[in-house]
Formats: sequence, structure tokens, C-alpha cells
Amino acid sequence: MGRSILIASGKGGVGKSTLAASLSQALARQGHKVCLLDMDIGLRGQDTFLGVESQIVYDSLDVLTGLCRLHDALIPIPGEENLSLLPCPQFSRAKDITPAQFRSLVDQVRALFAYVIIDAPAGIERGLRGILKASVDDCLLLCTPDDLCLRDAERVASLLQEKGLPRPRLIVNRLNDALIESGEMYNAKTCSETLDLPLLGEIPDDINVYRAQLKHLWLYDIDCPARYAIERIARRITGEAVPLPCIGKRRPWYIRMWDFMLEPRVKEVKHI
Ligand SMILES: Nc1ncnc2c1ncn2[C@@H]1O[C@H](COP(=O)(O)OP(=O)(O)OP(=O)(O)O)[C@@H](O)[C@H]1O
Ligand SMILES: [Mg+2]
Repeated sequence: MGRSILIASGKGGVGKSTLAASLSQALARQGHKVCLLDMDIGLRGQDTFLGVESQIVYDSLDVLTGLCRLHDALIPIPGEENLSLLPCPQFSRAKDITPAQFRSLVDQVRALFAYVIIDAPAGIERGLRGILKASVDDCLLLCTPDDLCLRDAERVASLLQEKGLPRPRLIVNRLNDALIESGEMYNAKTCSETLDLPLLGEIPDDINVYRAQLKHLWLYDIDCPARYAIERIARRITGEAVPLPCIGKRRPWYIRMWDFMLEPRVKEVKHI
């Protein structure tokens, strides 16, 4: 039986789908058989991320309603011999799949793959509640280092634990060295202490993430800091002891000076 990993967040738009796609690729390139399970029902996006949107005929709801077999709905990702995608329906609602159905779907997929990465919808309502009864082996909670996101992450963390899911491990996304150094942004350690959750990884804010998306390229094929951060997370998931580099650690003076000169300042608008 494979291991299912849920990627959840409180606030939306924190980078779950980006992480889920790249993490799946990272694990697949380590030689594991991986299925990326898109569960953002009604707002699916992984097919576009992975460039297979034109290949979708069936989705997970079709498997559950018996319209097709699981094998018919799985999309092998070209160029990634160990990676497949199971898309979710685009024109249905989260309530169209019951928690029991979802559990049976995850179990069917786990029987075929070493890792099942579940890209969950944001928040605690739309869709996530249905997923909570699934057989989830590992929960990864993604947040960005700001008060609003931390507050929402706290709510999701308690909901996951209330439902008997494994204690989530935290990944902090969009960290910025200069902002942490100047004291404007929390570092990953502070976020993990605030939420009282073990820290699994930290991902820098990296313009290449969006540039890759605009160019329809896979982030995992781009030589950039975010890609290497996700690779390190994948290695930690497989049990390797990979040290956390600690984004925001004091850098050499000339780099700080360079940043100081180039960074735009926050200037308040004066009301007359
Ligand atoms: N480390 C990063 N650096 C810079 N931009 C990032 C980073 N991670 C994600 N992004 C950007 O954030 C945006 C939202 O990412 P994504 O769609 O993965 O979030 P999400 O959590 O899946 O959103 P939703 O809750 O709507 O499903 C994208 O434009 C993506 O390029
Ligand atoms: Mg998403």
C-alpha cells in the first residue's frame, strides 16, 4: 500500500498546487511511482500545470460512479515515466463526492502507487471536510509567513487533528531573505513555533515560479531556489536527513547593502 500525503492550507493561493505538482515530480524522479490526485473539485488546475489538459477524458467522479475504470482516468505525464495524474471533475461541486467515496478512491490509488499526493482545496469548508475521512498518512500544511495566513493555518491544523488525521508538518512558502533580515517578515522557525507544528520545509519567494507558469514550463525543470527547496522537502519526506538552510539567516554585508539599495521602500500615502 502506498503512502498518501495531503497538502492543505488555511488561506487560498499560498502555493499548494505549485508544491503538489513539483513534489510529485521530485518523488517520481527519485524513482517512486507517484499519483497526483487533484481534489480541488470544480477548480482543477493540475492538468494545466502539467500540460495535459487536452488529454482528459475521464475524471475521479467518473471512476466513483462506475463510468470508467481507474486505469482509464489516470493520465500518464509525458516525459515523467513514474508520474500520473488523476484529475477531478471541472463542473461538479465538492459535495458530489461523499467522504466514503473519497476514501475508497484514495485506497484504490494507494494500491497502485508508492505515493499519492493530494492537492486539497483551500480552507476548511469547500471540499476539505470531505477529504478528512480519507486514509491520509501524512498531512503537509502550507502557509506564507504573515499573520492572516498563520491564523487560518492554525484553524486548519486543529480541524485536521480533531478529525484524527496525523499531526500536520509545516511548510512555509514565499520567504524573503531581505524582509526577514529587516524584521518585517517572520522566519520559518517563528511560524513553526507560533503554530506549534514541526517544520518540514521552507520555500523562498521566487519570481521564477510565476515565470515558469507563464511560459508553461515545469517549475521542477527550472534552475531556481524554489525548485531546490522543493527537492529538499521531497528528500525529507522519503526519510533522508536534509538540513534546513534557514532562509533569512544573516548574509554577507555586501549582499545586504545591494538589497538595501535596490529594494523599493514602503512609503505611506499622506492624507491631506
Ligand atoms: N515560492 C513562490 N514564489 C513565488 N510565487 C509563488 C511561490 N509559490 C507559489 N507562487 C505563486 O502563487 C500563486 C498561487 O499558487 P497556487 O495556485 O499553487 O496556490 P494554491 O494554494 O494552489 O491556490 P488555491 O488555494 O486557489 O488552490 C501562483 O501564481 C504561483 O506562481
Ligand atoms: Mg490550488
